[in-house]
Amino acid sequence: MASQDELKQIAANRAAEFVESDMVVGLGSGSTANFAIQRIAERIKSGGLKNIVGIPSSARTEKLATELGIPLVGFDEKQQIDITIDGADEVDPQLNLIKGGGGALLREKVVAQASRQNIIIVDDSKLSAHLGTKWALPVEVIPFAGKTEASFLKSLGASVSIRSQGDGAIFKTDQNNLILDADFGPITDLAKLAAQLDGRAGIVEHGLFLELASDVIVAESNGIRHLKRNEN
Ligand code: 5RP
Repeated sequence: MASQDELKQIAANRAAEFVESDMVVGLGSGSTANFAIQRIAERIKSGGLKNIVGIPSSARTEKLATELGIPLVGFDEKQQIDITIDGADEVDPQLNLIKGGGGALLREKVVAQASRQNIIIVDDSKLSAHLGTKWALPVEVIPFAGKTEASFLKSLGASVSIRSQGDGAIFKTDQNNLILDADFGPITDLAKLAAQLDGRAGIVEHGLFLELASDVIVAESNGIRHLKRNEN
């Protein structure tokens, strides 16, 4: 049976086939997205892909893509992305997502909303009937507001923890903000919760990606499924 990493790689390789020469490519963040970035770099190196530029969704992705020789630009140079390939933490049957396990949700959402096509790549452990069942919702907040936003999230029914790094230090995003992981359990009204979080000063962004994924490629032990939002 394939390991989780092998499944991630299988999904990533399939998604990388959708990248064509002359495209602006959004580069996601996380271990699954990293496999896609490696595959894109291989295709550039072998001459199969020409005139590609990438827009990275995190400082870590920028470093990896630079090391692999993928030419990068920012939104100053290109405002429209042809295709983005990114991972996710949880995917529901309508292809709504929870993202932000790696803390890159703000830039990931900016990249996703600027993209014509958003391909999400996951192994089947990420599929879930209701978002919030498997993953707490990451919420990026400015440090000034950390405690008051934690209280606000608790008032909405979540149990909340401030994210720390492996060494115990508080995790800081690429914008130097905090991540509050808000465990709501299965979220019954995604749009209502997203609106409540969008309307709250001090919350910079949250990990609910609603109607942003156009495609989800799921690798499972018995094959690959390519789900398309408009066909769901
Ligand atoms: C980072 C993300 C990642 O895409 C998400 O956490 C999935 O990561 P992985 O592919 O390592 O399981 O949203 O902010």
